[in-house]
Amino acid sequence: MNLPNLKEAKIRTNKEVAIKEALNLKSDKFKGQKFYLKTYGCQMNVHDSEEIKGILTNLSFSETTDLNEADIIVLNTCAIRENAHDKVFGFLGRIKHLKRNKPDLIVCVGGCMAQENSVANLLKEKYPFVNIVFGTHNINELGTMILNASSNQDIEVYSIEGDVYENIDYKRDSKYSAWVNIMYGCDKFCTYCIVPYTRGKQRSRKMPDILKEVQTLKDEGYQEITLLGQNVNAYGKDLAENYDFATLLEEAARINIPRIRFVTSHPWDFTDEMINVIAKYPNIMPYIHLPLQSGSSKILKLMGRRYTKEDYLKLYQKIKETIPGCSITTDIIVGFPNETEEDFKETLDVVNTCAFDGAYTFIYSPREGTPAALIKDNISKEVKEARLQTLNKLVNSYSLKHNKEYVNKIVKVLVTSPSEKGENKVCGYTETMKLVNITGASNDIGKIIDVKITSAKSFSLDGEKEIFANIS
Ligand code: SAH
Ligand code: SF4
Ligand code: F3S
Repeated sequence: MNLPNLKEAKIRTNKEVAIKEALNLKSDKFKGQKFYLKTYGCQMNVHDSEEIKGILTNLSFSETTDLNEADIIVLNTCAIRENAHDKVFGFLGRIKHLKRNKPDLIVCVGGCMAQENSVANLLKEKYPFVNIVFGTHNINELGTMILNASSNQDIEVYSIEGDVYENIDYKRDSKYSAWVNIMYGCDKFCTYCIVPYTRGKQRSRKMPDILKEVQTLKDEGYQEITLLGQNVNAYGKDLAENYDFATLLEEAARINIPRIRFVTSHPWDFTDEMINVIAKYPNIMPYIHLPLQSGSSKILKLMGRRYTKEDYLKLYQKIKETIPGCSITTDIIVGFPNETEEDFKETLDVVNTCAFDGAYTFIYSPREGTPAALIKDNISKEVKEARLQTLNKLVNSYSLKHNKEYVNKIVKVLVTSPSEKGENKVCGYTETMKLVNITGASNDIGKIIDVKITSAKSFSLDGEKEIFANIS
């Protein structure tokens, strides 16, 4: 990668330097000023935004959700599909307008898009009003960059990942449910995917550091943690120490936080030990997000997924047999180059066999720099859209079927927030990760309560707080 106009890539090797340089930098320079933060993309970015909020708070900014009130705007971007780019450039158009009337407004663009050379160069040429561009490897430098912000654009993007750093001052969105990064980056290099390029090589955190964070969250009263990584079950493979994801999961479960979750698992790295640990500990939630991507072994091979349709089905069966009641969701891409009608039918076939609880479905989007982008994108837009529609219809019918099985049952729900579905309603998730809108539980945010399910839709359940469930 050659970026003539940008700073040369640096390799961070000295953790102390990285921490001393910028981590948790405090200043009252911006007291009384407000930040507006917009997050695109996956849970990884959502959690990175909690780090960004920590940095901004340490610089004395407070948060606003009103763009017009902001003194600083930070966009934490995603590069996974073309439409992710379009959204960010659209939003930058609005910001350009705002900045005409407010020249002191500081505009920052970070995240996965900023890691792409073409984007960094485009921001330099066409969006000079953006003050700060930072990448995924140097979020910890953002505080320093903001303190030094000027009308000159400052681009600090490192093409090579550095060390993992600890003791980050997160400002978490929730007091009840927390993300815990267990690793950064990804080594899988699925041929369509930009993540290994925007997030770098897999770097696992040391197990004692992770467990210390989990213990702290438990002591702070958190009810739920989600262990986070692009490929969590490859955890530890990059470390000299001899531990793997099953060990980490078990150790985390022993800390006795009421609910433990994890995302995302790759079918290739799923071990029997993992399945057994999930089955053994009641506080490890019976819910697995297990991306399929395609039901055709031919397409899976082109995607570099390292498993066949049969391997996936075998794993699925094993999980269902060993962990009764486990819900499974998936990701599926349609319209990958050379996907024939027959290949697509195989995907539908797997959906019918697995009857997934839910699926995130996507139209293939070629990403510059990935191996798949070199294969001719030979499926027409119309065919891709028709396949997506057919798939969504099937997927949604299974979601509804599963959800209907909950009606009249009493389930445990962790109530997380007020619901958008009405003033007196709150919402939360079942152990199996079903969203429930609840009446009669306004005072229960942050608690795990019994809820009687009254009706079901494809994407959510309705329920009432069950008051008599605990009285025998
Ligand atoms: N690490 C996770 C998820 C990565 S991104 C995993 O391996 O499953 C989330 C989802 O976006 C992927 O599972 C895939 O279904 C989809 N995706 C990734 N790259 C894509 C592309 N180029 N076009 C369309 N969908 C893509
Ligand atoms: Fe992308 Fe594959 Fe890594 Fe997931 S496992 S982030 S799809 S390269
Ligand atoms: Fe997007 Fe980056 Fe996540 S590309 S999906 S925000 S890792």
